[in-house]
Amino acid sequence: MGNSFTTNCINSMELLFVSAECYPVAKAGGLGDVAGALPKYLTQLGHVTKLVMPMYRTKFLYANQWDVVHKGSSNLGNWWFEFTVIKEKTNVLGFDLYLLDINGLLDREKVYGYDDDSERFTAFQIAVLEWVANWQHQPDVIHVHDHHTALIPFMLKYCYRFAGIKNLPTVLTIHNAEYQGWMNWDKTIFIPQYDIWKWGMLEWNNKINPLASGIKCADKVTTVSPSYLDELKYMSNGLEALFEYEKGKCVGILNGIDTNVWDPQQDPYLKAENRFSANNSEGGKAKNKMQLCEQFDLDFDKPLICFIGRLVGEKGADLLPAVISDSFYHVGRSMNFLILGSGSPDVEAQLNMMTPISNNDYNAFIGYNETLSHVIYAGADFLLMPSRVEPCGLNQMYSMRYGTVPMVRRTGGLKDTVVDYGEPGGYGICYNFAAVGDICHGVWRAVELYHNKEKMAGIRRKMMQLDFGWETSVKQYISVYESVVR
Ligand code: ADP
Ligand code: GLC
Repeated sequence: MGNSFTTNCINSMELLFVSAECYPVAKAGGLGDVAGALPKYLTQLGHVTKLVMPMYRTKFLYANQWDVVHKGSSNLGNWWFEFTVIKEKTNVLGFDLYLLDINGLLDREKVYGYDDDSERFTAFQIAVLEWVANWQHQPDVIHVHDHHTALIPFMLKYCYRFAGIKNLPTVLTIHNAEYQGWMNWDKTIFIPQYDIWKWGMLEWNNKINPLASGIKCADKVTTVSPSYLDELKYMSNGLEALFEYEKGKCVGILNGIDTNVWDPQQDPYLKAENRFSANNSEGGKAKNKMQLCEQFDLDFDKPLICFIGRLVGEKGADLLPAVISDSFYHVGRSMNFLILGSGSPDVEAQLNMMTPISNNDYNAFIGYNETLSHVIYAGADFLLMPSRVEPCGLNQMYSMRYGTVPMVRRTGGLKDTVVDYGEPGGYGICYNFAAVGDICHGVWRAVELYHNKEKMAGIRRKMMQLDFGWETSVKQYISVYESVVR
């Protein structure tokens, strides 16, 4: 990002992001990447951008220096707790980073996956508002992300305790509407005392539904791609009618990627001698592919088709075992498959069980590994994304920046970012259904394309020149903020 992007901002705003994840502090998926990048680009445009997230026990916490900026206390039902807000000292991420600690509740190793996640994130949101209510001034906008922080618009508007800041404008970004944070009504006691006539603003289908509440109460709602917003009106895990009703305040803004972090020319996760640019991509990619083939016992001469991601139904991960064995059977053993992911124990077990069938053409790494993911984006020939639902998807954009052809199902953000190479100006492989036959046809096309060296090189060049940076999207976010500032 050069200085040309830094413009004199006429109306500088103060924006407070509230998120469960932020790369490189703590990341479970794409939410982390977006929360670690968007505030930086907003700051570069002259806005004062702050992000507050839970203080998990991460490497980043111990590797950086912090100032204590606030100590407070509050309650979750009849459990009283104390909290501390610390601020990173050196602005290492390019924006103001705050971590909020509630002893015993937030200071854990993982981001999610605990039985008391509802309590953890409800307490976090209460503490964030207690803290903001103590500021000498107010931010212009509070921007919350996904269900973990989506009770904030309700709490601001209707909890008596926050009456002093009730007019703060809020924006909710939906990264994934599959997860909504449902709670039974017995948990209503966790929410600070509110105007009881407004209970309906918490409810959807007889439960407390934090995501639905956020959609009802936020001033504006954004989704992470325009196509995903269209799809939510007929496929949103029960919220279809709500999206139709609230469509007037919803806008789809495509995610960007952090081109500083994801840059094959200077990616610190790649060996120095394996880094490459569009001009020497062939040699650079070959070195990374060789590294992967040695590590995973794969055949360098065959096309390398990879998958990176959460092994869950949304990503079509359950289809992978059948896609791999059917491709071997129908297309022939003319390609390698390499899987990096973790998630459903069933899918993990099936992928592990397939290792013995490998003829130096299949392997899987079950787990989360940031370094390996970068080497795969750099060394793979193709990246498979057979998603059933994909609100935006960052993997396909990372893969294109690293000269790897994405093989995507036409859905959500995948539809908005990948054009099939058979279409004018196209560069990817697209298919319509998350079905084994359709995906295998894509595998067959990938093998064909791989052997057409000239075409493959042309596609690689084209992909690496595409611009998926944040510059356009960040301006759309600014328009959204401006529309809610009172
Ligand atoms: P989602 O947020 O739905 O998981 P995205 O495509 O938006 O999907 O982002 C996924 C992010 O998580 C990418 O940065 C991807 O590289 C990373 N990722 C997913 N699974 C793994 C894994 N097992 N190891 C390393 N990185 C992973
Ligand atoms: C979610 C979505 C993914 C999106 C990411 C970042 O996790 O599943 O498609 O790219 O958020 O917005």
